[in-house]
Amino acid sequence: MIQSNKAALPKNNYPKFFQSLRFFLPYRRRIILLIGLEILSAAFLLAGPYFSKFYIDKAFLNKNMAAFLKITIFGAAVFLVSSVATLTRDIIKKKSSSRIKINLAGKFIKHLFSLDLSFFQSHSIGENFYRISDIDTISHFIAEDIPALVADLFKLTAIFSISLFLDYRLAAAMVILSPFFFLQSFKIRKKLRSLYEELWKSQIKLSKRLQEGLSRILVIKAFSLERLQRYAYMRFLIENIRLSLKIFRWSTFKSLATNIFSRLAYGMIALYGGWLIIKGSLSLGTYTAAMLYIGQIGILLEGFASRFEYFMQKTVAVEKFLEIVETTPGIKDSVDAVVIPSLSRDIVFDSVTFGYSADRPVFRNLNLRIPLGKWVGIAGPSGCGKTTLLNLILRLYEPQAGRILIGGYDIRNIKMDSLREKVAIATQEPLLFDLSIRENIAYGLSFLSDEGLYQALEVVRAGGFVKTLAQGIHTNIGENAAILSQGYKQRIALARAIVRNPELLLLDEATSSIDSQSEEGIFRSLRRERAVKSTIVISHRLFSIADADRIFFLTGTGRVEEGTHRELMEKSNEYREFFQAQLQEQAGSLRV
Ligand SMILES: Nc1ncnc2c1ncn2[C@@H]1O[C@H](COP(=O)(O)OP(=O)(O)OP(=O)(O)O)[C@@H](O)[C@H]1O
Ligand SMILES: [Mg+2]
Repeated sequence: MIQSNKAALPKNNYPKFFQSLRFFLPYRRRIILLIGLEILSAAFLLAGPYFSKFYIDKAFLNKNMAAFLKITIFGAAVFLVSSVATLTRDIIKKKSSSRIKINLAGKFIKHLFSLDLSFFQSHSIGENFYRISDIDTISHFIAEDIPALVADLFKLTAIFSISLFLDYRLAAAMVILSPFFFLQSFKIRKKLRSLYEELWKSQIKLSKRLQEGLSRILVIKAFSLERLQRYAYMRFLIENIRLSLKIFRWSTFKSLATNIFSRLAYGMIALYGGWLIIKGSLSLGTYTAAMLYIGQIGILLEGFASRFEYFMQKTVAVEKFLEIVETTPGIKDSVDAVVIPSLSRDIVFDSVTFGYSADRPVFRNLNLRIPLGKWVGIAGPSGCGKTTLLNLILRLYEPQAGRILIGGYDIRNIKMDSLREKVAIATQEPLLFDLSIRENIAYGLSFLSDEGLYQALEVVRAGGFVKTLAQGIHTNIGENAAILSQGYKQRIALARAIVRNPELLLLDEATSSIDSQSEEGIFRSLRRERAVKSTIVISHRLFSIADADRIFFLTGTGRVEEGTHRELMEKSNEYREFFQAQLQEQAGSLRV
């Protein structure tokens, strides 16, 4: 089966908003509880106006002291219940949003790191950072905004029912005038929605810009690009602020519209009620209570206007979050994947066709048999696909056609962890962490003895250097391993690969910054001590792989020449030319 190395994106055949609602399902109980508490806490607000009706009609107008006391005691009880509910709601809200945050962040990080390399090429670090900060917004959204919105809808229905019960005519007037409350057009909402999407993107740009600038600070200083950086950042910032202002204008307009229309409707109902009182068909108490309820509806609707805006902003965050957690990694363990006991025999590329994008293949029907248990060299001009070959062996990418077999197993049927724990790689770019030398080398290993550590340091010829450091192996190397020279960075990265005792060691220009004398020493130790069973070395310095047991020479035109150095010198013109060009280069540099 041919698998695509592109991650599958979520299906998008129903409206995004509902798609994001689906996401709240796991939290439904919590949300329902919060809605219940929200409603209880609104009980006093709901019952309040009714008490005024009783006070006026039963106690004040009849001058009835017993009724006065009864209503007061009952009112106090309702007030107490609603206060306790408010307090409980706030505590549960805070707890819920923290818990949801932990859940989401865990899910997000787990998922993010499971995605294919190809995903990270199209989504920058800055962007992913921003998405993580969005988790705050989302947990707040689930724990606070959604229950509040649903509770508001409930309150609205309840208030309406009560007013219907109080006086059907005033309620009917409200129904007739209710379109006024929603007159602000759907267009505004649509506009706001797209503006929020733009705002989100612009915020990503800002975060990306700053992150990129800071991580390339050396280049920025060395080329005096500070001003350019600042300008670029400020330009994005201004664009961002412009968008915020635009959103502000639209949403102010929106709430103003709601405001005006709801006041207008309120005024008309009030006048109508007044007319009914004068006519003698409505009691003063009922009128007061009904108008208080209708006033609350106005407040609720105004609240909706602003809440809706938050809502849209937050659904954008939720959708972008979903984009990540619903992207399924293209490369993952199949259900019947097996643990391979050890890497034996050879690595076979069987008619492999692969390109980072399908329309630009790096390999077409590549057939290779790389022996394991040997010291194998890979050479060839820049861009011929040497690194790609290693990426495929590590299954960081998947071929579009053909198969790769390791020890007879199709790589797609091998459990990824079991493969990757037997293989270690050191690359030209050392990619070290801001930790101590020891921690960098032992990274991810549950145990590493000092002896093992020093042995590895000896192999990479870094033992002496580390001893000169004030804190030895415990010295922190700083961000981007700032305190180390490039050659030492590579040595530490190489040590990190060696201490894992891999069965197969992949070296991709891993010693390119190390002087050739030390490089030779390192290779000698690696080979002589047979610390690692199999090694595949990519190097531009042909000298360093000339004595490999087997060399694969990628010609750059899709052909692969194979043999020992001597054999290749005899049979391959391309190899001979490549080697001689290198000889001349060296001789040339000697003459200078
Ligand atoms: N992540 C990527 N996305 C798209 N194309 C890529 C990617 N990595 C490499 N390529 C392309 O694939 C081809 C092979 O690249 P690869 O890195 O394997 O070459 P290489 O032999 O290792 O070269 P070098 O000696 O310069 O390291 C090149 O044409 C390169 O432009
Ligand atoms: Mg390369």
